[in-house]
Amino acid sequence: MNRPTSQRPSTGAPAKHSHATDDSPEAGGFLPAVGLLALDRQYAVLREEIRAALDRVCDTGRFVLGPDVTDLENELARALDVPHAISCASGSDALLLALMALDIAPGDEVILPSYTFFATASAVTRLGAVPIFADIDPATYLVDPADVERKISRRTRAIVPVHLFGRTADMDALLPIAARAGLPVVEDAAQSILSTWHGRCSGALGDVGCFSFYPTKNLGGAGDGGFLTTTRDDLAAKLKLLRVHGMEPRYYHQVVGINSRLDSLQAAILRVKLPHLDAWTSARQANAARYMEMFAQYDLDGRVTVPTDESRGRHVWNQFVIRVADGQRDALRAHLTACKVGTEIYYPVPLHLQKCFEYLGWAKGDLPHTEQAAEATLALPIFPELEPAEQRTVVGRIAEFFRAPQTQTPDRAADTSSALPADGPHFLRRMNAVGRADDVRC
Ligand SMILES: Cc1ncc(COP(=O)(O)O)c(C=O)c1O
Repeated sequence: MNRPTSQRPSTGAPAKHSHATDDSPEAGGFLPAVGLLALDRQYAVLREEIRAALDRVCDTGRFVLGPDVTDLENELARALDVPHAISCASGSDALLLALMALDIAPGDEVILPSYTFFATASAVTRLGAVPIFADIDPATYLVDPADVERKISRRTRAIVPVHLFGRTADMDALLPIAARAGLPVVEDAAQSILSTWHGRCSGALGDVGCFSFYPTKNLGGAGDGGFLTTTRDDLAAKLKLLRVHGMEPRYYHQVVGINSRLDSLQAAILRVKLPHLDAWTSARQANAARYMEMFAQYDLDGRVTVPTDESRGRHVWNQFVIRVADGQRDALRAHLTACKVGTEIYYPVPLHLQKCFEYLGWAKGDLPHTEQAAEATLALPIFPELEPAEQRTVVGRIAEFFRAPQTQTPDRAADTSSALPADGPHFLRRMNAVGRADDVRC
């Protein structure tokens, strides 16, 4: 098996922080580029194991479901401490399957945030049901429980909180609201694998949890994939049936389901990655804490608001999203793009204002906190392999845009980048790359 070398195709500009030149972060300058993501760094470390796992699946010829899929499901159930983990073809399908298993039917109402990825709502409309959008808490970007409660009607059949950006929604408030109304809770946990709430994993808090293995997620595959979690045996049995066309036994169809199975090749890759997920998550947490320290060193008050951590559980930082004041978000993003710092807007158009949902009759002004967030937020690189020197570049470039003076001296002792070997971290050396952001979708 070949080791990665500098001959391999580069996926980005080199991160040159080997010597303290005038342009180096050590000299107060910036790196030439920082990608929003650098999936190649993860692959560089796991390459041989992944290749061996793929060979093993190809040798067996069991490409759909099969032993790797079953093993992955068992390993996920153990990692999340939930009785049932059921894989499927994507996070979008997980949401659809969850609502099908709950018998959501045409005309039913399902309450969900508008500030989320499209799939949270399209799962509802694909069943002929009606999404009822709730506003968010502007501090956390998570669905506002009080607005959820206000929107419950006699047609409401489910509530779908989204643990957006890796932070668990306020389940202390949401679960009692759902219980009082007798409504099931479907957690959209696509961005929150291993996040917790009072010690319990997201996905195990409501009736069903829906996860995504999309490559940008904290546990990403090499393509599409997803899974569901549930503590309810009845729903687990239904979900297993629905993902295989309602077929049991072979060619006898009990109900009309869909075709949504996880490929064994994906499962084999994900099984290589899963044992690293906890450490990757801790690295994301450390990166978030370091960003907070770095932002605090500049006078950016009133211009940039950084996210906060969650004291009631583990925030897994799938995204680090800042809020930019005074309508400056797009100009800041253009500046960062010009400086080759990767960013993304999650999400520029709230779902209640999407063209395809015009027929639902929502208008601008209906969800003010959601609409403001869509205009002001910007996601910065937060992936586990991100280097402190790269974070300094990101924050420094933002301060540069606002001409914000540095008000505190960086604590070099706490900055691990100064302890790096002179020629930089091993993956940057070997890959000569800082990653790419052009395949980011959701
Ligand atoms: C919040 C949320 N829900 C659902 C999905 C859908 O997952 P997938 O892309 O695997 O279909 C995503 C993104 O992928 C997401 O971010």
